[in-house]
Amino acid sequence: MLEKLNDIEHLGLDALEQVNNEAELEAWRVAHLGRNSGLTQLFNDFGKLSREERPLVGQRANEVKKHLESGFVSRSGEIQQAALTHSIEHERLDVTLPGRRLPLGRLHPDTMILRELYRIFGDMGFQVYRSREVESDEYNFQLLNFPVGHPARDMQDTYFVESGQKLDNPVVLRTHTSPGQIRAMREYSARNPHNPPPVRIVLPGMAYRYEQVDARHETQFDQIEGLAVGPGITFSDLKGTLADLARRLFGQNVRTRFRASFFPFTEPSAEFDIECFLCGGKGCNVCGGGWLEIGGCGMVHPVVLTNGGYDPEIYTGFAFGLGPQRIAMLRYGINDIRYFWENDLRFLEQF
Ligand code: PHE
Repeated sequence: MLEKLNDIEHLGLDALEQVNNEAELEAWRVAHLGRNSGLTQLFNDFGKLSREERPLVGQRANEVKKHLESGFVSRSGEIQQAALTHSIEHERLDVTLPGRRLPLGRLHPDTMILRELYRIFGDMGFQVYRSREVESDEYNFQLLNFPVGHPARDMQDTYFVESGQKLDNPVVLRTHTSPGQIRAMREYSARNPHNPPPVRIVLPGMAYRYEQVDARHETQFDQIEGLAVGPGITFSDLKGTLADLARRLFGQNVRTRFRASFFPFTEPSAEFDIECFLCGGKGCNVCGGGWLEIGGCGMVHPVVLTNGGYDPEIYTGFAFGLGPQRIAMLRYGINDIRYFWENDLRFLEQF
């Protein structure tokens, strides 16, 4: 028995020398101290010993067990220390490396320019008024003085939604933000029908047309409509407002121009152009002739004032409809309007 104990002790301690990692250490523990180890077996066979042998063997067996256990503990400490040293030497954290960039969302250039316009118009005293994107023919055309079959409708060839029984009043995706003029005037005038309050609003939002798509035209685009109604408003108020807008957007030296035009809902009517920044007025594929048309404008037609609940004998007003994307094109040097809604990150990430 004592001899066997010596063997168990030597074998165990020798094997422990060969142990180099946590897994091997655990395997060693099972083999040398576990339930099926030689040592445990020996304790189990204790009963077979004679009375005289028992204390001697017992003492030695406990001693061997202690040696093996303390060997285990110190080897375990060494292995942990080695693992720590290894990780400190080989897995060093380089705090000088640049960090990983978190992908951040950003504002769409269209949103940026719209917000800038709200701010500028806000400074001038215009409130933002939101109107619906899906309209009726009545509001989109008829109340704006485009009767059914009027040739001026061709300018805004449109998307009619299934009309069903609606005959002359089908549902359309608005072709411009102008129907909001009627909705706003009716809302304002309803507050005090005999003495309607003055109106000074901008109406932003999407408009839809069946367009020949090119660098300046898309079938879906933003507009921002302006409407000012009150006693004594003149065409020079309109010119002053739009010229001031151009200066606030592009600086004091920007050149603007008004060209006579036609819209059924304004009289007189004009187109409003800003000198093209992209080519410096020389003419390029964006502007064509050196000027970029930013929108239409004019004095609100008496029929439209009446339809909105304002007496044209007392009130006058001006209106304009601008293309914020055209403004953004000049502002940021974008040479094709199709980029806006193409969803190409290479474009969007530049803003
Ligand atoms: N609604 C016109 C268009 O989209 C623009 C416009 C608005 C013209 C207001 C005059 C007054 O073409």
